[in-house]
Amino acid sequence: MFDRTMSTLHPEHSIRASHGLLSASDLTVTLDGKTLLDIPSIRIDAGGPTIVMGPNGAGKSLLLRLLHGLVLPSRGSIFMQGDPLDAKRRRRQAMVFQSPVILRRSVRANVEFALAAHGVPRARRRSEAIRLLTVAGLQDKARQSAPSLSGGERQKLTVVRALATRPEVLFLDEPTSNLDPASVMAIENLIMNASAEGTKIVLVTHDIGQAGRLGEDVLFLHQGRITEQTPLQAFTVSPKSQEAAAYLSGELLI
Ligand SMILES: Nc1ncnc2c1ncn2[C@@H]1O[C@H](COP(=O)(O)OP(=O)(O)O)[C@@H](O)[C@H]1O
Ligand SMILES: [Mg+2]
Repeated sequence: MFDRTMSTLHPEHSIRASHGLLSASDLTVTLDGKTLLDIPSIRIDAGGPTIVMGPNGAGKSLLLRLLHGLVLPSRGSIFMQGDPLDAKRRRRQAMVFQSPVILRRSVRANVEFALAAHGVPRARRRSEAIRLLTVAGLQDKARQSAPSLSGGERQKLTVVRALATRPEVLFLDEPTSNLDPASVMAIENLIMNASAEGTKIVLVTHDIGQAGRLGEDVLFLHQGRITEQTPLQAFTVSPKSQEAAAYLSGELLI
């Protein structure tokens, strides 16, 4: 009803809003006759972080790659604000992978490389890199070789590097697994700042505490299917799907 009223006044706006920030329908990924993802419809709206949860092998990483345009679906296509996800729109997204690649250069050069790849003029790259590293508390490491960073520092660098491009959407695939509490907190702060500045975060995590600290809603995946998408608080108290309930109680292994 609301949409129809709006569409009379602002047809263009209403159509776009009704698509969500990211959307797809009838989406499948099949490999060697095996269906890895089967998603009749998905919609991720602008706003607070969307948490993607589900047991190992559920398809979380694959879903992120798909939404970022790194993997092409066997059927269906991805839309960003209602438009097909083409190269131009993909550049408005960034992703931090589960096993991120670090360049064998200094910490600062890693960030400058990302800035260069996004067309930031050479003259501004150094100061912008230092500014970003300072936000992450990595300013003292700027000249250190990136591969020599600790695990937590490395993860911070990869988040900083992804944020350097000021993406509209940032996909984060388990960015804090295996980190100590201080590093987890530092990365969560970077994520919260980015979210407050308008970047849409889509975050895979197994950490229900982290989901609670950061998330607005939860998308739960099981065996390549979305079993529910629920506001965070409702999800933690009483998930709608049996699979999510079993996962939260530690009973769902695959
Ligand atoms: N490139 C690939 N080739 C073959 N199988 C893949 C590939 N990528 C993912 N898969 C399979 O897809 C399923 C989902 O994987 P993944 O998205 O990594 O799970 P999750 O991130 O939820 O742990 C798994 O069964 C995995 O083995
Ligand atoms: Mg994964």
